[in-house]
Amino acid sequence: MSSLSFSPISWENGTLVLLDQRLLPLKKTFLQITTMEGTISAIRDMAVRGAPAIAITGIFGIALFAKGRSGSASSGEIESVLHSMKQSRPTAVNLTYALAQAGEKVQEVNNWHDIFLVWESFAKELMLNDLRDNEALGRHGVDLFDPNEETFHIITHCNTGALATAGHGTALGVIRSLRDAGKKVIVYADETRPFLQGSRLTAFEMMEEGIECYIITDGMSGWLMGSRKIDAVLVGCDRVARNGDTANKIGTYNLAIVAEAHNVPFYVCATKDSFDLKLETGASIPIEMRKEEEVTRYDFIKDVSGNIFIQPGMTSPVGARALNPSFDVTPAKYIRSFITEFGCFPPFEIPNRLKV
Ligand code: MRU
Repeated sequence: MSSLSFSPISWENGTLVLLDQRLLPLKKTFLQITTMEGTISAIRDMAVRGAPAIAITGIFGIALFAKGRSGSASSGEIESVLHSMKQSRPTAVNLTYALAQAGEKVQEVNNWHDIFLVWESFAKELMLNDLRDNEALGRHGVDLFDPNEETFHIITHCNTGALATAGHGTALGVIRSLRDAGKKVIVYADETRPFLQGSRLTAFEMMEEGIECYIITDGMSGWLMGSRKIDAVLVGCDRVARNGDTANKIGTYNLAIVAEAHNVPFYVCATKDSFDLKLETGASIPIEMRKEEEVTRYDFIKDVSGNIFIQPGMTSPVGARALNPSFDVTPAKYIRSFITEFGCFPPFEIPNRLKV
């Protein structure tokens, strides 16, 4: 069950129902998706986002493909379905893992109806497991905070909450777990330019639950750490290499350096599905480059006579160029600890803790 009062991802009688996160915080609109192509568009265009949520959605997407077919399925056709879905967003490893497991599960199955049943049930299983893992991760995260303190000031980046997962969240999950343990948590949410996951989504989630939250622009964290006591920075991740280098939303790297400069512990919240142990370092993590327009323009949603519409505006001269890497890689040396569903540990313990 999601920590929110509604489910951002649900499966209703063979239809994938997704909250369109692009319209938050002003409008809660649900997309009814019945095809794999529709699912790929929803992922690519950010109606759904956040590494775990993308993985769950992707598996429902391939189930939709199988649902629309009958008769026998060749291994080539199955490979091609998995490949198409994998291309939707490249940086987070969760979807790649989930698709690999989806492929293994149907190795002995050769008709589309049975493949549909396997993938449908796998997607539901992923949701349940992700929620269970987030809750365990949250409990371990609480142990890193001084039990004698009553109030914690925490900076977070992007959105890692119930909107990005099957519920509870990873970095926001630790915040929720601290609150559930009776602590007062004051959250500073980086707005997260250019897609504003922090100001639109994290602030929305915190307000829904009455957790005190202040939006800061991405450049304010140095000032904040220099002028107020900050207990920790908590972020999520999209892919962690074997040495602990971590890809996460663009701006995470800057935040980690500022935290190091102020001796504020920088924690990365990750479930096992975030670790890509085939990669020795973060240098080969693929970084998704998105459209320049996400940086040079903004879209705001305006309510006129009850109608919601999107009005594009410019934040830069017409014709100005922009770079828009959607993620960056934080070197392991800036990460004090990973917080996972099986405990907390520094980067050098990754190979041992993941038993590979
Ligand atoms: O581009 P997004 O919004 O999908 O990026 C999301 C993030 O970077 C999150 O921090 C990450 O996926 C972890 S969500 C638990």
